[in-house]
Amino acid sequence: SRQLLKSISSSARLFSNHRTQNQTRGYKVAVLGAAGGIGQPCGLLMKMNPLVTELRLYDIAGTPGVAADVSHINTKAQVKGYSQADDGEDGLKNALKDCDLVIIPAGVPRKPGMTRDDLFKINAGIVKGLVEACAENCPKAMLNIISNPVNSTVPIAAETLKQKGVYDKKKLFGVTTLDVVRAKTFYAEKKGLETAKVDVPVIGGHAGVTILPLFSQATPKAALTDDEIDALTKRTQDGGTEVVAAKAGKGSATLSMAYAGALFGDACLRAKNGEAGVVECTYVESDVVPGVEFFATKVSLGREGVEKIHGTGALTAYEQAGLDGMMSELKDSIQKGLDFAKGA
Ligand code: NAD
Ligand code: LMR
Repeated sequence: SRQLLKSISSSARLFSNHRTQNQTRGYKVAVLGAAGGIGQPCGLLMKMNPLVTELRLYDIAGTPGVAADVSHINTKAQVKGYSQADDGEDGLKNALKDCDLVIIPAGVPRKPGMTRDDLFKINAGIVKGLVEACAENCPKAMLNIISNPVNSTVPIAAETLKQKGVYDKKKLFGVTTLDVVRAKTFYAEKKGLETAKVDVPVIGGHAGVTILPLFSQATPKAALTDDEIDALTKRTQDGGTEVVAAKAGKGSATLSMAYAGALFGDACLRAKNGEAGVVECTYVESDVVPGVEFFATKVSLGREGVEKIHGTGALTAYEQAGLDGMMSELKDSIQKGLDFAKGA
């Protein structure tokens, strides 16, 4: 099983090879929404992460079963399940107590014909409630927000943490890793490159035109025609919708999202553990682009969270038009989140 684990994690490049030797300590990680489509495989992948010593799985119901199941895997992390159904109010509190990292995929997913913003009505309140509990029980934790619409749920989380007096902009992240994972996959496929060696930055937000892959900065560099760039950009922007359509009413991306969530969670833990050079694209409070308070670019992560927010880099005319074109939607989504959290 060690061999299998090693080959899964190294082929997926989920966990860095030298990390086990560098390891100084382990971390407490909670997944909120852990019985869901993303939560279950994400819990599984975090159980395989050697930096995790305690894995707390929380959902409204169903987590005892998921936790019992995952806990039988012979890796170090101790697994506990908590639910509102079984533990009442204490479930969430105990799941979060002194956590180092909280991964939040709680909330409803899209069905065909819906936009991510259509989820706002239900998910805004869910995220606000969960982040309030984070503020009370693990105010120093890094928060990874997966629940959609990310463009609004991250501002909601920021404002909620501010109201609780514990906001640290270095520790709040909107998870946009799936956009990067998709852009890398589509680019590698198109150009016949080795997928694991490909990098493509994705900036902006996480919905439709606010997702802006920068193929001009892709590595290794391969020649792309304007039509190819346009097709790759649109496919990355519509990646979520492609999965929603294929699942035909049974939800949205769960497995690739769990992979992306585990990848980003691992990056946070490695940075926390002192590993140098951890850089990920993520949606954070940022002043890189005037007019929007939250924006995704490459970010260097350190022990305390965000260490340095990188700029967009030089943009082509096509990419600049994409950036200009997303501004009004991104601004509105941010404002909608802030207004909701302020009760405006
Ligand atoms: P799902 O319905 O399968 O699972 C969601 C889980 O959240 C359920 O088990 C539900 O019980 C739980 N939940 C609801 N309210 C809760 C609360 N107050 N506390 C704890 N748990 C609660 O949905 P899914 O497919 O796992 O998707 C979850 C969310 O992630 C959706 O909003 C979806 O749009 C989003 N998503 C984001 C990305 C991204 O790239 N950021 C990618 C895919 C999906
Ligand atoms: C995705 O990009 O897959 C997620 O945001 C889910 C969705 O609704 O598309």
